[in-house]
Amino acid sequence: MRKKIVAGNWKMFQNSFSIKDFIEDFPPLVADIDDIEHIIFPPFVYLNLFQAQNKIPYGAQNMHFEERGAFTGEISAGMLRDLGCKFVLIGHSERRHIFKETPEMLEKKILAALQDELTPIYCIGEKIEERRSGKTFEVLSSQLRDGLSEVRDLTKVIIAYEPVWAIGTGETATPEIAEEAHVFIRSELETIMPGISEDISVLYGGSVKPENTKELIKMKNIDGFLVGGASLKPETLAQISRFSVEEK
Ligand code: 13P
Repeated sequence: MRKKIVAGNWKMFQNSFSIKDFIEDFPPLVADIDDIEHIIFPPFVYLNLFQAQNKIPYGAQNMHFEERGAFTGEISAGMLRDLGCKFVLIGHSERRHIFKETPEMLEKKILAALQDELTPIYCIGEKIEERRSGKTFEVLSSQLRDGLSEVRDLTKVIIAYEPVWAIGTGETATPEIAEEAHVFIRSELETIMPGISEDISVLYGGSVKPENTKELIKMKNIDGFLVGGASLKPETLAQISRFSVEEK
């Protein structure tokens, strides 16, 4: 179902004290904003702090595709469900590029997440050299097809377009560049599964902050944000959320 989402990917940041404060401080700041879903992705070891509250939906930043087994250091979709997760990030560029996750692994993860009734937020995006050499659409198309071709109901998946060159660099895609990619993504989704693309949320991520939220959210095909650095502080994330309702 297409809805507006403002999600925070905390990567390997925060600690139990800062998270307890966030869980207390964030909900009142967004209490009057009801048509946006807020989702937080903390590091695995802090998921239990979210399980102990019921105001902020949450998910994991990664998972393994097998249900169980001798996979030291890995965590399955069933285990995440057990901790109350409803969402999981799959294919974040840091997983693809630093941890060398392959398209085959990501497809298996998406299918395993859906099997366990987790909503995958599937992250895609081109590197700067791919954009410079005119390969952006080619890259996005193959990432979408590699990950989603076997999915039976695409409306159960959320897409996050995160151009690699915009992540953690302070350099956001212009609204026009982001919208162009989002339009392309929606048209690809339409060819993978006709009739559903208008029902899928497509988020933008990459140096999102309150200062650039208003211009980005005005774009017709941007349904919300996956925010890194600016999601760590409750006030900043709440500001992004507020601008996202005001300007849409
Ligand atoms: P930044 O917002 O810190 O650029 O990170 C974006 C991101 O990777 C979200 O998943």
